[in-house]
Amino acid sequence: MTALSLRGKRVLIRQDFNVPMEAGQMASAKRIEAALDTIRLAVAAGAKVLLMSHMGRPEADCRDPALSLAPVAAYLARALGGEVKLYDDYLTQPPTLADGEVAVLENVRFNAGETANDEELSRQYASLCDIFVMDAFGTAHRAQASTCGVARYAPEVCAGPLLMAELAALGKALERPRRPLVAIVGGAKVSTKLTVLRSLLSRVDRLIPGGGIANTFLVAAGHKVGKSLFEPENVAAARELMAWSAEGGRAVLLPEDVVVAKSRTAAADAVVKSVHELADDDIIFDIGPATAARYGRIIEQAGTLLWNGPVGVFEVARFAAGTEYLGRAIARSGAFSIAGGGETLAAIERFDLDAAMSCVSTGGGAFLEFLAGKTLPALAALEFRSAAGEAPPRPSPAPSAARSPA
Ligand code: 3PG
Repeated sequence: MTALSLRGKRVLIRQDFNVPMEAGQMASAKRIEAALDTIRLAVAAGAKVLLMSHMGRPEADCRDPALSLAPVAAYLARALGGEVKLYDDYLTQPPTLADGEVAVLENVRFNAGETANDEELSRQYASLCDIFVMDAFGTAHRAQASTCGVARYAPEVCAGPLLMAELAALGKALERPRRPLVAIVGGAKVSTKLTVLRSLLSRVDRLIPGGGIANTFLVAAGHKVGKSLFEPENVAAARELMAWSAEGGRAVLLPEDVVVAKSRTAAADAVVKSVHELADDDIIFDIGPATAARYGRIIEQAGTLLWNGPVGVFEVARFAAGTEYLGRAIARSGAFSIAGGGETLAAIERFDLDAAMSCVSTGGGAFLEFLAGKTLPALAALEFRSAAGEAPPRPSPAPSAARSPA
Protein backbone atom coordinates (compact mmCIF):
# COMPACT_ATOMS: atom_id res chain seq x y z
CA MET A 1 0.00 0.00 0.00
CA THR A 2 2.81 2.37 0.84
CA ALA A 3 4.26 1.95 -2.68
CA LEU A 4 1.08 3.08 -4.45
CA SER A 5 -0.21 6.56 -5.13
CA LEU A 6 -3.48 6.78 -3.18
CA ARG A 7 -4.35 10.45 -3.66
CA GLY A 8 -7.95 10.88 -4.74
CA LYS A 9 -8.39 7.10 -5.12
CA ARG A 10 -11.20 5.02 -3.60
CA VAL A 11 -9.20 2.72 -1.36
CA LEU A 12 -11.10 -0.24 0.07
CA ILE A 13 -9.24 -1.72 3.05
CA ARG A 14 -10.19 -5.13 4.49
CA GLN A 15 -9.48 -5.03 8.21
CA ASP A 16 -10.27 -7.53 10.94
CA PHE A 17 -12.54 -5.57 13.29
CA ASN A 18 -14.00 -8.79 14.70
CA VAL A 19 -13.55 -7.57 18.27
CA PRO A 20 -14.95 -9.35 21.33
CA MET A 21 -18.25 -7.82 22.50
CA GLU A 22 -19.75 -8.25 25.95
CA ALA A 23 -23.25 -6.94 26.70
CA GLY A 24 -23.06 -4.48 23.80
CA GLN A 25 -19.65 -3.17 24.87
CA MET A 26 -16.32 -3.79 23.20
CA ALA A 27 -14.28 -6.01 25.53
CA SER A 28 -11.04 -5.26 23.69
CA ALA A 29 -10.27 -2.74 20.95
CA LYS A 30 -6.83 -4.23 20.22
CA ARG A 31 -7.66 -5.20 16.66
CA ILE A 32 -8.94 -1.71 15.86
CA GLU A 33 -5.90 -0.11 17.44
CA ALA A 34 -3.63 -2.36 15.40
CA ALA A 35 -5.27 -1.06 12.19
CA LEU A 36 -4.97 2.65 13.04
CA ASP A 37 -1.54 3.19 11.47
CA THR A 38 -2.73 1.79 8.14
CA ILE A 39 -5.83 3.99 8.19
CA ARG A 40 -3.84 7.10 9.13
CA LEU A 41 -1.38 6.43 6.31
CA ALA A 42 -4.20 6.18 3.78
CA VAL A 43 -5.81 9.37 5.11
CA ALA A 44 -2.49 11.24 5.02
CA ALA A 45 -2.00 10.10 1.42
CA GLY A 46 -5.33 11.71 0.46
CA ALA A 47 -7.28 8.51 -0.20
CA LYS A 48 -11.04 8.11 0.08
CA VAL A 49 -10.88 5.38 2.72
CA LEU A 50 -13.52 2.65 2.84
CA LEU A 51 -13.01 0.13 5.63
CA MET A 52 -14.63 -3.27 5.61
CA SER A 53 -14.71 -6.15 8.07
CA HIS A 54 -16.83 -8.93 9.43
CA MET A 55 -18.02 -9.14 13.01
CA GLY A 56 -18.99 -12.48 14.55
CA ARG A 57 -20.83 -15.16 12.63
CA PRO A 58 -24.36 -13.92 11.88
CA GLU A 59 -26.98 -16.47 10.83
CA ALA A 60 -27.80 -16.42 7.11
CA ASP A 61 -30.23 -13.60 6.22
CA CYS A 62 -30.06 -12.16 9.72
CA ARG A 63 -28.75 -8.63 10.26
CA ASP A 64 -28.22 -9.10 13.97
CA PRO A 65 -27.85 -5.57 15.42
CA ALA A 66 -25.54 -7.00 18.09
CA LEU A 67 -23.08 -7.73 15.27
CA SER A 68 -23.19 -4.25 13.73
CA LEU A 69 -19.90 -2.41 13.18
CA ALA A 70 -21.48 0.77 14.64
CA PRO A 71 -19.33 0.58 17.83
CA VAL A 72 -16.24 0.17 15.62
CA ALA A 73 -17.13 3.28 13.57
CA ALA A 74 -17.69 5.22 16.81
CA TYR A 75 -14.34 4.06 18.19
CA LEU A 76 -12.58 5.05 14.95
CA ALA A 77 -14.21 8.49 14.98
CA ARG A 78 -12.77 9.08 18.46
CA ALA A 79 -9.35 7.65 17.58
CA LEU A 80 -9.01 9.56 14.31
CA GLY A 81 -10.62 12.74 15.61
CA GLY A 82 -13.29 13.18 12.92
CA GLU A 83 -16.53 11.83 11.60
CA VAL A 84 -16.53 8.17 10.49
CA LYS A 85 -19.84 7.26 8.88
CA LEU A 86 -21.18 3.71 8.85
CA TYR A 87 -22.71 2.73 5.49
CA ASP A 88 -25.38 0.05 5.50
CA ASP A 89 -26.63 -0.01 1.91
CA TYR A 90 -23.25 0.37 0.19
CA LEU A 91 -23.94 -2.40 -2.34
CA THR A 92 -26.86 -0.53 -3.86
CA GLN A 93 -25.71 3.03 -3.09
CA PRO A 94 -21.91 3.20 -3.19
CA PRO A 95 -20.64 5.87 -0.78
CA THR A 96 -19.08 9.01 -2.23
CA LEU A 97 -16.26 10.26 -0.05
CA ALA A 98 -14.01 13.31 -0.07
CA ASP A 99 -10.24 12.87 -0.23
CA GLY A 100 -8.98 11.94 3.25
CA GLU A 101 -12.46 10.92 4.46
CA VAL A 102 -12.92 7.59 6.28
CA ALA A 103 -16.06 5.43 6.28
CA VAL A 104 -16.92 1.97 7.54
CA LEU A 105 -19.01 -0.51 5.54
CA GLU A 106 -21.44 -2.53 7.66
CA ASN A 107 -20.56 -6.14 8.61
CA VAL A 108 -19.71 -7.93 5.36
CA ARG A 109 -21.23 -11.15 6.74
CA PHE A 110 -24.65 -9.48 6.54
CA ASN A 111 -24.26 -9.86 2.75
CA ALA A 112 -25.53 -13.08 1.19
CA GLY A 113 -22.62 -14.84 -0.48
CA GLU A 114 -19.85 -13.36 1.70
CA THR A 115 -18.72 -16.58 3.39
CA ALA A 116 -19.29 -18.57 0.17
CA ASN A 117 -16.84 -16.29 -1.67
CA ASP A 118 -19.61 -15.49 -4.14
CA GLU A 119 -18.45 -14.11 -7.47
CA GLU A 120 -21.21 -11.52 -7.91
CA LEU A 121 -20.66 -10.12 -4.42
CA SER A 122 -16.90 -10.08 -4.99
CA ARG A 123 -17.44 -8.02 -8.15
CA GLN A 124 -19.70 -5.64 -6.24
CA TYR A 125 -17.02 -5.05 -3.59
CA ALA A 126 -14.43 -4.56 -6.32
CA SER A 127 -16.62 -1.96 -8.04
CA LEU A 128 -16.52 0.18 -4.88
CA CYS A 129 -12.81 0.85 -5.24
CA ASP A 130 -9.83 1.78 -7.37
CA ILE A 131 -7.48 -0.06 -5.01
CA PHE A 132 -8.21 -3.01 -2.73
CA VAL A 133 -5.92 -3.34 0.31
CA MET A 134 -5.83 -6.63 2.22
CA ASP A 135 -4.66 -5.74 5.72
CA ALA A 136 -6.52 -8.32 7.83
CA PHE A 137 -4.04 -11.01 8.85
CA GLY A 138 -6.62 -12.29 11.35
CA THR A 139 -8.99 -13.21 8.52
CA ALA A 140 -6.44 -14.22 5.88
CA HIS A 141 -7.25 -17.91 6.47
CA ARG A 142 -10.80 -17.36 5.19
CA ALA A 143 -11.56 -17.73 1.48
CA GLN A 144 -14.46 -15.28 1.45
CA ALA A 145 -15.69 -12.53 -0.87
CA SER A 146 -14.18 -9.67 1.17
CA THR A 147 -10.82 -11.40 1.67
CA CYS A 148 -10.28 -13.34 -1.57
CA GLY A 149 -12.97 -12.79 -4.21
CA VAL A 150 -12.61 -9.00 -4.23
CA ALA A 151 -8.87 -9.39 -4.88
CA ARG A 152 -9.72 -11.12 -8.13
CA TYR A 153 -11.73 -8.24 -9.57
CA ALA A 154 -10.46 -5.00 -7.99
CA PRO A 155 -8.58 -2.80 -10.49
CA GLU A 156 -5.48 -2.68 -8.28
CA VAL A 157 -4.67 -4.91 -5.32
CA CYS A 158 -2.05 -4.76 -2.59
CA ALA A 159 -1.19 -5.81 0.96
CA GLY A 160 -1.50 -3.34 3.83
CA PRO A 161 1.20 -2.37 6.35
CA LEU A 162 -0.33 -4.29 9.27
CA LEU A 163 -0.54 -7.51 7.29
CA MET A 164 3.04 -7.00 6.07
CA ALA A 165 4.29 -6.35 9.62
CA GLU A 166 2.65 -9.52 10.93
CA LEU A 167 4.05 -11.60 8.08
CA ALA A 168 7.51 -10.12 8.62
CA ALA A 169 7.38 -10.97 12.35
CA LEU A 170 6.17 -14.51 11.71
CA GLY A 171 8.77 -14.98 8.98
CA LYS A 172 11.50 -13.78 11.33
CA ALA A 173 10.34 -16.19 14.04
CA LEU A 174 9.85 -19.23 11.83
CA GLU A 175 12.22 -18.87 8.92
CA ARG A 176 15.21 -17.03 10.36
CA PRO A 177 14.90 -17.54 14.11
CA ARG A 178 17.57 -16.57 16.58
CA ARG A 179 18.14 -19.85 18.43
CA PRO A 180 17.15 -21.48 20.62
CA LEU A 181 13.61 -21.24 19.27
CA VAL A 182 11.11 -22.08 22.00
CA ALA A 183 7.36 -22.50 21.41
CA ILE A 184 4.71 -22.56 24.12
CA VAL A 185 1.50 -24.10 22.83
CA GLY A 186 -1.37 -24.38 25.29
CA GLY A 187 -5.05 -25.04 24.90
CA ALA A 188 -7.59 -27.70 25.58
CA LYS A 189 -7.09 -30.20 22.80
CA VAL A 190 -4.18 -31.84 21.01
CA SER A 191 -6.51 -32.71 18.13
CA THR A 192 -7.14 -29.09 17.12
CA LYS A 193 -3.42 -28.32 17.24
CA LEU A 194 -1.90 -31.58 16.02
CA THR A 195 -0.79 -30.17 12.66
CA VAL A 196 0.57 -27.07 14.40
CA LEU A 197 2.53 -29.21 16.88
CA ARG A 198 3.97 -31.37 14.10
CA SER A 199 4.98 -28.40 12.02
CA LEU A 200 6.46 -26.57 15.01
CA LEU A 201 8.39 -29.62 16.17
CA SER A 202 10.23 -29.69 12.87
CA ARG A 203 11.49 -26.15 13.51
CA VAL A 204 11.71 -25.45 17.24
CA ASP A 205 14.43 -26.45 19.70
CA ARG A 206 12.02 -26.78 22.63
CA LEU A 207 8.26 -27.17 22.76
CA ILE A 208 6.39 -26.42 25.97
CA PRO A 209 2.88 -27.84 25.76
CA GLY A 210 0.30 -26.38 28.15
CA GLY A 211 -3.22 -27.08 29.39
CA GLY A 212 -5.08 -30.15 28.11
CA ILE A 213 -2.37 -30.64 25.47
CA ALA A 214 0.26 -31.08 28.20
CA ASN A 215 -2.01 -33.60 29.96
CA THR A 216 -2.22 -35.75 26.83
CA PHE A 217 1.59 -35.65 26.60
CA LEU A 218 1.85 -36.57 30.31
CA VAL A 219 -0.32 -39.65 29.72
CA ALA A 220 1.80 -40.49 26.67
CA ALA A 221 4.87 -40.34 28.94
CA GLY A 222 3.23 -42.86 31.32
CA HIS A 223 1.77 -40.54 33.99
CA LYS A 224 -1.67 -40.67 35.55
CA VAL A 225 -3.62 -37.42 35.27
CA GLY A 226 -6.64 -38.28 37.42
CA LYS A 227 -9.79 -36.62 36.09
CA SER A 228 -7.88 -33.99 34.10
CA LEU A 229 -8.87 -33.09 30.58
CA PHE A 230 -6.91 -35.16 28.07
CA GLU A 231 -7.58 -36.95 24.78
CA PRO A 232 -7.19 -40.73 25.00
CA GLU A 233 -7.45 -41.00 21.20
CA ASN A 234 -4.43 -38.73 20.75
CA VAL A 235 -2.08 -40.32 23.29
CA ALA A 236 -0.43 -42.44 20.60
CA ALA A 237 0.05 -39.38 18.36
CA ALA A 238 1.58 -37.47 21.30
CA ARG A 239 3.93 -40.40 22.03
CA GLU A 240 5.00 -40.51 18.38
CA LEU A 241 5.63 -36.76 18.34
CA MET A 242 7.81 -37.02 21.43
CA ALA A 243 9.86 -39.90 20.00
CA TRP A 244 10.19 -38.21 16.61
CA SER A 245 11.29 -34.88 18.07
CA ALA A 246 13.77 -36.56 20.47
CA GLU A 247 15.40 -38.30 17.48
CA GLY A 248 15.89 -34.91 15.88
CA GLY A 249 17.48 -33.55 19.06
CA ARG A 250 14.45 -31.42 19.95
CA ALA A 251 12.59 -31.67 23.20
CA VAL A 252 8.97 -31.67 24.29
CA LEU A 253 9.11 -30.42 27.88
CA LEU A 254 6.69 -31.79 30.44
CA PRO A 255 5.73 -30.47 33.88
CA GLU A 256 7.23 -32.06 36.97
CA ASP A 257 4.70 -30.48 39.33
CA VAL A 258 1.15 -29.23 38.80
CA VAL A 259 -1.61 -27.36 40.63
CA VAL A 260 -4.57 -29.67 41.16
CA ALA A 261 -8.05 -29.32 42.67
CA LYS A 262 -11.20 -31.39 42.76
CA SER A 263 -13.17 -28.79 40.76
CA ARG A 264 -12.57 -25.66 38.70
CA THR A 265 -14.42 -23.27 41.03
CA ALA A 266 -12.69 -20.30 42.61
CA ALA A 267 -13.43 -21.77 46.07
CA ALA A 268 -11.83 -25.17 45.35
CA ASP A 269 -8.75 -26.14 47.35
CA ALA A 270 -5.72 -25.86 45.09
CA VAL A 271 -2.77 -28.11 45.93
CA VAL A 272 0.68 -28.41 44.33
CA LYS A 273 1.60 -32.02 43.58
CA SER A 274 4.35 -33.88 41.78
CA VAL A 275 3.12 -35.43 38.52
CA HIS A 276 4.01 -38.81 40.11
CA GLU A 277 1.48 -38.54 42.91
CA LEU A 278 -1.83 -37.55 41.38
CA ALA A 279 -4.98 -39.08 42.92
CA ASP A 280 -7.73 -40.55 40.74
CA ASP A 281 -10.01 -37.56 41.35
CA ASP A 282 -7.37 -34.81 40.96
CA ILE A 283 -7.80 -32.34 38.11
CA ILE A 284 -4.79 -30.41 36.78
CA PHE A 285 -5.50 -26.68 36.39
CA ASP A 286 -2.02 -25.15 36.18
CA ILE A 287 1.68 -25.94 36.15
CA GLY A 288 3.40 -25.97 39.56
CA PRO A 289 6.09 -23.54 40.80
CA ALA A 290 9.07 -25.86 40.14
CA THR A 291 7.91 -26.36 36.55
CA ALA A 292 7.27 -22.62 36.10
CA ALA A 293 10.79 -21.85 37.35
CA ARG A 294 12.34 -24.46 35.00
CA TYR A 295 10.35 -23.18 32.01
CA GLY A 296 11.27 -19.63 33.05
CA ARG A 297 14.99 -20.46 32.77
CA ILE A 298 14.46 -21.95 29.30
CA ILE A 299 12.53 -18.84 28.24
CA GLU A 300 15.36 -16.66 29.60
CA GLN A 301 17.88 -18.43 27.34
CA ALA A 302 15.68 -18.40 24.23
CA GLY A 303 16.58 -16.39 21.13
CA THR A 304 13.04 -16.56 19.73
CA LEU A 305 9.75 -17.27 21.51
CA LEU A 306 6.39 -18.22 20.04
CA TRP A 307 3.42 -18.20 22.41
CA ASN A 308 0.01 -19.60 21.63
CA GLY A 309 -2.25 -20.67 24.47
CA PRO A 310 -2.13 -20.47 28.27
CA VAL A 311 -0.63 -23.20 30.47
CA GLY A 312 -3.44 -23.09 33.02
CA VAL A 313 -6.97 -21.87 33.66
CA PHE A 314 -5.72 -18.30 34.14
CA GLU A 315 -9.25 -16.88 34.28
CA VAL A 316 -9.51 -18.33 37.81
CA ALA A 317 -7.07 -16.49 40.09
CA ARG A 318 -5.76 -19.55 41.93
CA PHE A 319 -4.88 -21.27 38.65
CA ALA A 320 -3.33 -18.20 36.99
CA ALA A 321 0.18 -18.26 38.47
CA GLY A 322 1.79 -20.51 35.83
CA THR A 323 0.52 -18.52 32.84
CA GLU A 324 1.40 -15.23 34.54
CA TYR A 325 4.91 -16.47 35.44
CA LEU A 326 5.64 -17.60 31.86
CA GLY A 327 4.06 -14.46 30.39
CA ARG A 328 6.27 -12.27 32.57
CA ALA A 329 9.33 -14.38 31.73
CA ILE A 330 8.61 -13.89 28.00
CA ALA A 331 8.09 -10.16 28.56
CA ARG A 332 11.42 -9.91 30.47
CA SER A 333 13.45 -11.96 28.04
CA GLY A 334 15.62 -10.37 25.41
CA ALA A 335 14.26 -12.86 22.84
CA PHE A 336 12.25 -11.94 19.77
CA SER A 337 8.77 -12.83 21.03
CA ILE A 338 5.58 -13.27 19.09
CA ALA A 339 2.22 -14.11 20.65
CA GLY A 340 -1.13 -14.87 19.07
CA GLY A 341 -4.50 -16.51 19.60
CA GLY A 342 -7.60 -15.35 21.45
CA GLU A 343 -6.81 -16.81 24.89
CA THR A 344 -3.18 -15.71 24.70
CA LEU A 345 -4.21 -12.15 23.91
CA ALA A 346 -6.65 -12.23 26.82
CA ALA A 347 -3.80 -13.36 29.12
CA ILE A 348 -1.50 -10.67 27.72
CA GLU A 349 -4.13 -8.02 28.38
CA ARG A 350 -4.91 -9.35 31.84
CA PHE A 351 -1.27 -9.30 32.95
CA ASP A 352 -0.52 -6.11 30.99
CA LEU A 353 2.33 -7.61 28.96
CA ASP A 354 1.44 -6.10 25.60
CA ALA A 355 4.20 -3.53 25.32
CA ALA A 356 6.91 -6.05 26.18
CA MET A 357 6.13 -8.50 23.33
CA SER A 358 8.03 -7.98 20.06
CA CYS A 359 4.84 -8.73 18.13
CA VAL A 360 1.29 -9.47 19.19
CA SER A 361 -0.48 -11.01 16.23
CA THR A 362 -4.09 -10.04 15.51
CA GLY A 363 -4.65 -13.58 14.27
CA GLY A 364 -6.40 -16.36 16.14
CA GLY A 365 -7.17 -19.12 13.65
CA ALA A 366 -4.95 -17.44 11.05
CA PHE A 367 -1.98 -17.43 13.44
CA LEU A 368 -2.42 -21.16 14.08
CA GLU A 369 -2.82 -22.01 10.40
CA PHE A 370 0.29 -20.02 9.58
CA LEU A 371 2.23 -21.85 12.32
CA ALA A 372 0.95 -25.13 10.90
CA GLY A 373 2.57 -24.20 7.59
CA LYS A 374 -0.73 -23.86 5.71
CA THR A 375 -1.20 -21.47 2.79
CA LEU A 376 -3.60 -18.72 3.79
CA PRO A 377 -6.06 -18.20 0.88
CA ALA A 378 -6.11 -14.40 1.08
CA LEU A 379 -2.32 -14.31 0.87
CA ALA A 380 -2.35 -16.74 -2.04
CA ALA A 381 -4.79 -14.43 -3.84
CA LEU A 382 -2.49 -11.44 -3.33
CA GLU A 383 0.61 -13.36 -4.33
CA PHE A 384 -1.00 -14.72 -7.48
CA ARG A 385 -2.16 -11.30 -8.54
CA SER A 386 1.25 -9.82 -7.87
CA ALA A 387 3.17 -12.59 -9.64
CA ALA A 388 0.94 -13.09 -12.65
CA GLY A 389 -0.57 -9.65 -12.98
CA GLU A 390 -3.90 -11.33 -13.51
CA ALA A 391 -6.86 -12.70 -11.58
CA PRO A 392 -6.13 -15.55 -9.14
CA PRO A 393 -8.03 -18.84 -9.20
CA ARG A 394 -11.10 -18.88 -6.93
CA PRO A 395 -10.39 -20.94 -3.82
CA SER A 396 -13.44 -22.61 -2.33
CA PRO A 397 -14.40 -21.36 1.14
CA ALA A 398 -12.87 -23.26 4.08
CA PRO A 399 -15.34 -25.60 5.78
CA SER A 400 -14.54 -23.98 9.12
CA ALA A 401 -16.05 -20.77 7.82
CA ALA A 402 -19.51 -22.33 8.09
CA ARG A 403 -21.93 -20.15 9.96
CA SER A 404 -22.09 -21.18 13.56
CA PRO A 405 -22.08 -19.29 16.84
CA ALA A 406 -18.83 -17.36 17.38
C1 3PG B 1 -10.90 -14.47 14.21
O1 3PG B 1 -11.46 -13.93 15.18
O2 3PG B 1 -10.10 -15.42 14.34
C2 3PG B 1 -11.11 -13.87 12.84
O3 3PG B 1 -11.74 -12.64 12.90
C3 3PG B 1 -11.85 -14.82 11.96
O4 3PG B 1 -13.15 -15.00 12.42
P1 3PG B 1 -13.99 -16.28 11.95
O5 3PG B 1 -13.36 -17.47 12.64
O6 3PG B 1 -15.41 -16.04 12.38
O7 3PG B 1 -13.85 -16.41 10.47
